[in-house]
Amino acid sequence: MNKARHILAIDQGTTSTRCMVFDAQARPLSVAQREFPQHYPKSGWVEHDAEDIWRDVLHTAREAVDRAGLDASAIAAIGIANQRETVIVWDRADGKPVYRAIVWQDRRTSEQCVRLRADGAEEEVRERTGLLLDPYFSATKLAWILDTVEGAREKAEQGRLAFGTIDSFLLWRLTGGAVHATDITNAARTLLYNIRDQRWDEDLLKLFRIPAALLPEVQDNNHLFGYTDKSLFGLPIPIAGMAGDQQAALIGQGCFAPRSAKCTYGTGGFLLMNTGADCHISANRLLTTPAYRLDGRIHYALEGSIFVAGAAVKWLRDGLSVISTAADTGAMAAGLSDNHGVYMVPAFVGLGAPRWDAEARGVICGLTLDTTAAHLARAALEAVAYQTLDLVSTMASDGAEFPALLRVDGGMANNDWLCQFLADMLQVAVERPANLETTVRGAAFLAGLTTGLWEDLPALSKLTAESRLFHPQMEAAHRDRLIDGWQDAQRRTSSIPG
Ligand code: G3P
Repeated sequence: MNKARHILAIDQGTTSTRCMVFDAQARPLSVAQREFPQHYPKSGWVEHDAEDIWRDVLHTAREAVDRAGLDASAIAAIGIANQRETVIVWDRADGKPVYRAIVWQDRRTSEQCVRLRADGAEEEVRERTGLLLDPYFSATKLAWILDTVEGAREKAEQGRLAFGTIDSFLLWRLTGGAVHATDITNAARTLLYNIRDQRWDEDLLKLFRIPAALLPEVQDNNHLFGYTDKSLFGLPIPIAGMAGDQQAALIGQGCFAPRSAKCTYGTGGFLLMNTGADCHISANRLLTTPAYRLDGRIHYALEGSIFVAGAAVKWLRDGLSVISTAADTGAMAAGLSDNHGVYMVPAFVGLGAPRWDAEARGVICGLTLDTTAAHLARAALEAVAYQTLDLVSTMASDGAEFPALLRVDGGMANNDWLCQFLADMLQVAVERPANLETTVRGAAFLAGLTTGLWEDLPALSKLTAESRLFHPQMEAAHRDRLIDGWQDAQRRTSSIPG
């Protein structure tokens, strides 16, 4: 028997990097994880040091293989999932970034987006990319680096620099600078990629002033991207699958049928519904994005992006020090009979779908002298459910009938209280898999598909593990009252009049 029947999957996320080794039945054998520093040089700016990311990827990859009791020769392939939209520009000569990675949450280019909108560019951008003019996406940040770092634009035009989202940068480093490529789900988040024609779009490159020489080649998600440089693991290992983390989670949750949907609660919350071959452009400011392209066949998804989910709990813990651990929030929320009118709208980095208000800022309202840390904890959890409800309602008004079941994952989905509250608010069953690491599992699925460890999508569906269901049980009047309170709180955050 071929010994190399394991997959090493990397999930490079916004606040941590995680690697896992899976066996041929997609059972996780080991995990290694590291948190890394966030840099906030100015209000609304968020940066990562790409060298921190690279160091942690290597470290956790090696550690995961060790912890599984294996050596690198047992790894059939590597799969990568990553925080999307985050921009890195590096020098092709030495692989060194010319500036820190500008993170998807960073709002520094919001004025530029407003200007482009005022110039009437949004409609065309939307039609071609499925996205909106918001600093969330890569293009304006990439232009900012080219305009700000001395000599960068000139070098870019001469083909001496490379641009990539995190996947692309990791691929470059893992292959010792041999491969500059990305996958369609990551390319599609840049505002430069035409999701209908499935190619970089020259008009958009002009609009955002991006030289084509910077761009990676775009591949299917199940593609043999290259081999690791021998010096890294002692032998070359195929890198055989890549996807943006939210699409990877969709795959890891087995949402292959049109109308199947998942929401992943990490730093932010991302709801994706598979729409099959239908490239449905939302009339209500949801995103249209490739779900995956396998062997040349594309599936699209409708996406709603919540910028702050777990990040609000992290803020209660690290910023305000009113909770000791994120895990405490469930019991704190459950210990209250009601929210007592306390709401948190966590617009710390503006609001994502469906409002897309880059200038909105967070609000906590309904405070009284008997408000406690438990109310704040509950408000942070409730906000996750209300924001998800807003996305589901928007999908419905977009004509995309929402399924009777929502699959959830990500660290926050561990919280039973939140899952039950979510089911109550959405009025659909919420399904939580026993193993919440669906993002990294999706990356493993892709690498295993490419290398023949798993034959096809039905084979992957059979690997899906057990799960727990939460059914709606709240009385309608109670639910309506809570939602009214949320809507009132949300109006207070808006920077958009009316
Ligand atoms: O679009 C941003 C998203 O990919 C970030 O995901 O899990 O790092 O919060 P996460």
